[in-house]
Amino acid sequence: MLSAETIGDEDSMDIALRPVRLTDYIGQEKVKNNLAVFIAAARTRNQSLDHVLLSGPPGLGKTTLASIISQEMGSSIRRTSGPAIERPGDLAAILTNLEPGDILFIDEIHRMNRSIEEIMYPAMEDFCIDIVIGKGPAARTLQIDLPRFTLVGATTRPGLLSSPLRDRFGINFRLDFYDEVELAHIITRAASILNISIDAAGAAEIARCSRGTPRVANRLLKRVADFALVKGSGRINRKSALQALGMLEIDSHGLDMMDRMILEAIIIKFNGGPVGLETLAASVSEETDTLTDVCEPYLLKLGLINKTPRGRVATENAYRLLGLASRQTLTEPSLFEEGSQ
Ligand code: ADE
Repeated sequence: MLSAETIGDEDSMDIALRPVRLTDYIGQEKVKNNLAVFIAAARTRNQSLDHVLLSGPPGLGKTTLASIISQEMGSSIRRTSGPAIERPGDLAAILTNLEPGDILFIDEIHRMNRSIEEIMYPAMEDFCIDIVIGKGPAARTLQIDLPRFTLVGATTRPGLLSSPLRDRFGINFRLDFYDEVELAHIITRAASILNISIDAAGAAEIARCSRGTPRVANRLLKRVADFALVKGSGRINRKSALQALGMLEIDSHGLDMMDRMILEAIIIKFNGGPVGLETLAASVSEETDTLTDVCEPYLLKLGLINKTPRGRVATENAYRLLGLASRQTLTEPSLFEEGSQ
C-alpha cells in the first residue's frame, strides 16, 4: 500500500497527472460510456457497484480507472496487489476492515495465490468469509459477514485468472492501446498541468512514439521537456521533440533499444524463430514477465512478431524494420515500407 513517505517527486507528479473524474479521462470510449451507465445505475439503486475486472497491458490506466470509480461512487479506495497478499490472514484483515461501499483495488490480481483466491470467492459472492480458529480436532470455523464492497481487480494477464475468480466479476473491461490523437490530447493535458510549453506538432511527435500507452506518453513528455529546457528554448515543437526522441534512441514507431534487441535476437540469433520465451528472455537478459507483459503486446500490435505454439517468430515487417534481408519474398506492401509512415 502506498504511504506518503514512499511517494517520490516523480511519482507524485504522475499522480497529479491522473484524471480524477470520468469526464477528464481521455480515450477508452466504450469502457468509459459503459462504466458511466453502471455507476449511475448503482448510485440510483443506492447499491455498491458490481465487482470490476480491468485487463490490458501496463500503463493504459487501470489504476486510474479504479480511483475514478471510487470518486464517482463517492466511496473510499483501499489499494493492494496480488503478490502483497502473502497469507490468507492478510486478505482476511483487509476484508474485515472495509467499510460499506468501499472499493478494494487489487493490482496484478493474477498473481494472488490460489489459497487466498479461495477466500475471495465467498467474499465476492456472499460478502462473508470463513475463518478457521484453532488447530486439529478443536478447530472451528467462524463465518464473518463483510460489508458490501466492490472489488476492482487489475491484470495484465486475464488468462492466468482461474475461471471461478473471473466469473465472479460482474463487470469485465479490456483496455486497449490508445490512438495517436488520444495520446496527443493526453500529452497536451499533462503539459498544461506541468507547465510545459508544447505545440500541437510537438505533442503529435511524442504521441507517435508512445506505444499507444499514456504512461509512456507522460514519461516521454517529461524527458523531452528536459531536453528542450537544457538544449533548446524550453519549448517543445516538432524539431525539439524529434531531437530529444533521437537522443533517447526511440524510433518513429516508439520502439526502444530493448524492442530492437528482441527483434535482432529472434532474427539473428534464432534465425527468425520460433524461439521459446525463456530462451529469448535469457538472450536479451530480461525477465520473462517483462517480455510478455511490456514488450510483446506492442510488438504484436505492430505486427513485428507472432506467437506460435513453438515460440516467437519475427515477421517480414521486423526484417524490413531492421533493414535485414528477409526470409521470404514479400508480396504485400507493409506498414514499414518507405514512405508509408
Ligand atoms: N493520464 C494518463 N492517462 C490518462 C487518460 N486516459 N486521460 C487523461 N489523462 C491521462
